[in-house]
Amino acid sequence: MNFETNKDVLDWYERQERVLTPEFIGNIPWEKVKDNPLDEKLIPVLLYMRDVETLTDMYHRELLRTPTGKDLHISKFMERWGIEEITHGEVLNRFLNESGVETAEKWQTEVRRNVSTSYNTIAYMMMVLTNLIGKKFTATHMTFGAIHEMEAAQGYRRLIDLADHPVLTYIVNGIIREESVHAQFYRSVARIELERNEFAKKMARWVTEHFWAPVGQGSLAKERTEYTIATLFAADNAIEGLDRTVTQRVRQLPGFDGITKITDTIGEMAGRPVMKLETA
Ligand SMILES: [Fe+2]
Ligand SMILES: [Fe+2]
Repeated sequence: MNFETNKDVLDWYERQERVLTPEFIGNIPWEKVKDNPLDEKLIPVLLYMRDVETLTDMYHRELLRTPTGKDLHISKFMERWGIEEITHGEVLNRFLNESGVETAEKWQTEVRRNVSTSYNTIAYMMMVLTNLIGKKFTATHMTFGAIHEMEAAQGYRRLIDLADHPVLTYIVNGIIREESVHAQFYRSVARIELERNEFAKKMARWVTEHFWAPVGQGSLAKERTEYTIATLFAADNAIEGLDRTVTQRVRQLPGFDGITKITDTIGEMAGRPVMKLETA
C-alpha cells in the first residue's frame, strides 16, 4: 500500500474494523482456559506483555506534548490506538486470572506507578528535545512505533508457539491482527515523513542505531525485558523469524537499508550468536 499523505493513512486506518470487540471478548471460551496447562515460565512473559500494552497510554500522553502529537492525523490515530492497546493488556490479564494467576484488583494503577523515576526523567528530556527539533522528529517517532509494533507482533507469534494453548492462541491471534494494522499505520506515516526531509531521515536512522531497545525496556525493569526476550527468542529459528518479519521490513524504509540493529540487539539479549547478515 502506498499512501501519499498522513490523511490517506488515517482514512485507511479508520476503515479497519476492530478485532477485539466486546463480542470477540465475550466469545472467548474463558471456562476452557484451565483445561490446558500454562507453562509456568511463560507467566512472567505474559505479565511483561500485559504491562507493555498498559503503558502505551503513558507513551501516548507523552507524545501529545510533542510536535508529533500535534499532527491532527497522528493524534486521531493515537486516540484509538491507545484504547486498543489497553484492551490487549486487559485480555491478557483476564487470561492470567482464568489460568489461576492472581493479579491485584488495581493492577493497571500499579503498573503505571511502578514505572521507574529514571524513565520519567528520560521521558521529560525526550519531550524537551523533540520540541526543540520540532516536526522533523516525527519520522523518528513513527519509525520507532513501526518497529515496536512489528516486534510485539513477532513476540506474540513466538508466545503462541511456545504456549501451545488453544485459548491463548485464539486471543493472541486477535491481538496480532490489531498489531499488524498498527504497524501498517506507523510504517506508512514513517515512509511519508522520512521521504519528506533529508535531515529527518538521517536523524531517524541515527537514533534507531543508537537508542533503539526492545519495547518496554526503560519503563519496566531491565531483567524483565531480558527474561522475556530470552524466553521468546532463544529457539533456533526465532531470530531468523524476527529478522524476516521485523528487520527486513525496517530496511525497506527510506534511509534504513542494511540496518541490522533489531536482529543484533534481540539476538544478543536472547543469548544467540549475532548473525552476520548480508547487507544490501
Ligand atoms: Fe498491543
Ligand atoms: Fe499495537
